[in-house]
Amino acid sequence: MTVLVPTMGALHKGHQGLIKRARSMSKEVVVSIFINPLQFENSDDLEKYPRSPERDIQLATLAGATEVWMPDYEEIYPGEIKKLNAGPLGKIFEGASRPEHFDGVVTVVNRLFEIVKPSAAVFGEKDFQQLAIIKAMKSSVEIVGVPTVREFDGLALSSRNIRLSEQGRVSANVIHRALAGAHLAPSVVIAQEIINSTLATEPAFKLDYAAIIDEHSFELANDQTRHKRAIIAGWIDGVRLIDNMKMGA
Ligand code: PAF
Repeated sequence: MTVLVPTMGALHKGHQGLIKRARSMSKEVVVSIFINPLQFENSDDLEKYPRSPERDIQLATLAGATEVWMPDYEEIYPGEIKKLNAGPLGKIFEGASRPEHFDGVVTVVNRLFEIVKPSAAVFGEKDFQQLAIIKAMKSSVEIVGVPTVREFDGLALSSRNIRLSEQGRVSANVIHRALAGAHLAPSVVIAQEIINSTLATEPAFKLDYAAIIDEHSFELANDQTRHKRAIIAGWIDGVRLIDNMKMGA
């Protein structure tokens, strides 16, 4: 059985965690590295997306990948592109700020599945909305989510973190402070207040959204919601940062 770990490269310990998880499931682990233009809303972000192919091969192999596949554009999108629709979940939160982003994600994931034909595929929980949207795709591929790997100060590992300035990198842990502070709050209202007030302590952080949602429907949570998750997105130094955490014990 083949397990696929789809990535856009610039691999880090978070990706290595995904690969290790895949390897615990199967002896055949394919890591794909393809920077998918369809999921970028502006060409600047696409151009600035970090690229480190040689290091990626080393890190993927060390983590247990048996094949590192770097398809070119033509292999993924031969001829006319049939863009898929991510549905209503693709239009809110990340999707509201990044129109068509999730359509691009489901389109490429579908192509990767068509070509590799894996039995399972592994994705990080850091991109929680992406994971939910991929789980909702009508596919026979088993979708496995893996918890977020964090830096010493709680910042979620992301390929984009290297674009932060030294000061921006220090400021960036405000997101985790907000999530961790709210985690055991006695009510949704108090959790939301803790998140808002913590984020407001960091002027470098430009908020996009901070919400507590039902982790299945992505509707705003209340105290009766069984599975709650806080989701936060914003920018520091113009770099988009997102993170999330399960709320409650
Ligand atoms: O999470 C990512 O790196 C990308 O969105 C993915 C799933 C590899 C699709 O391009």
